[in-house]
Amino acid sequence: VPAGALGGRTVLVTAGPTVEPIDAVRYISNYSSGKMGYSIAEAAAAQGARVVLVSGPVALPAPEGVEVVPVKTARDMLAAASSVFPAADVAVFAAAVADLRPANPADRKLKKGRDDAALANVSLTENPDILATLAAGKRPDQYVVGFAAETNDVLMNAHAKLKKKHADMIVANQVGDGLAFGTDDDEVWLVTADDEVLLPLMSKRDVARRLIEVVARHLSRPGA
Ligand code: PMT
Repeated sequence: VPAGALGGRTVLVTAGPTVEPIDAVRYISNYSSGKMGYSIAEAAAAQGARVVLVSGPVALPAPEGVEVVPVKTARDMLAAASSVFPAADVAVFAAAVADLRPANPADRKLKKGRDDAALANVSLTENPDILATLAAGKRPDQYVVGFAAETNDVLMNAHAKLKKKHADMIVANQVGDGLAFGTDDDEVWLVTADDEVLLPLMSKRDVARRLIEVVARHLSRPGA
C-alpha cells in the first residue's frame, strides 16, 4: 500500500485492560499491557489517519500524533468509544474488557473483620460488550476489527466471534504459556468470513503494521 494510505480517515482503537472496582482500593482486571492496541494506533497514525485511542490504565506513553482518551471501566470505555464510532472509518477493538464487574462496589475500603461477608461474596454482573454493541449498528462503509484471545480452538472460536459480534475481521491470538497478554511478540490469525491468514510470531508493532496494511487495502477497493 502507498505511504499515507489512511490519509483523511479516522481510526478508533480500544486498548489495555478495564478495571472494575470492588471498593475504594480493590479492583478486578486482567494482564493486558496495551502494547497491541498502542502499536495499532501508532501504525494507523503512521499511515496518515486521525487516530483516537480509548485506553484502559496502562504504563505506555501516547503514540506520536494519537489522541488518547483514558478510561477505567468497561462502561467508561463504551461511552468514550460510542462518541467516536460514528466518525470512524475503521474501528479496532484490541482492549481486554472485563466481562464481569462487581455489582455493588463500595465507595469506602472494605475492612477485614468488619466486612468479611462482603469481601467473601463479591457478586458480579455482566458488562456491556463494546465491540458487539457498536458493530451491531455499523454502516456498510465502516470496517470493524475485533480480537479474540483464546486458549483453545482458536480458529473455530474466531469464526464464532466474527458472526456473533458483527465484525468484519477477527484477529485471533492464542493465550496461555506466556503468549499474547503483556508480551512484545504475538502470533495471530487474521480471520474474515472467507479467509484465514496466519501471521507467524513477530513483534506486535509488525503485527500492527501488517493489520493496518490489510485494512488500508480493503478501504481502497473500488466500491468499499
Ligand atoms: O495488551 P497486550 O498485553 O498487548 O495484549 C494484547 C491482547 C492479548 C489483550 C490482545 O491481543 C487481545 O487479544 N485483545 C482482546 C482480548 C479479549 O478480551 O478477547 P475476548 O475474546 O474476551 O473479546 C473478543 C472481542 O470483544 C475483543 O475485540 C474485545 O475487545 C471485545 N470485547 C469483549 C468483551 C466486552 N465486554 N467488550 C468488548 O468490546
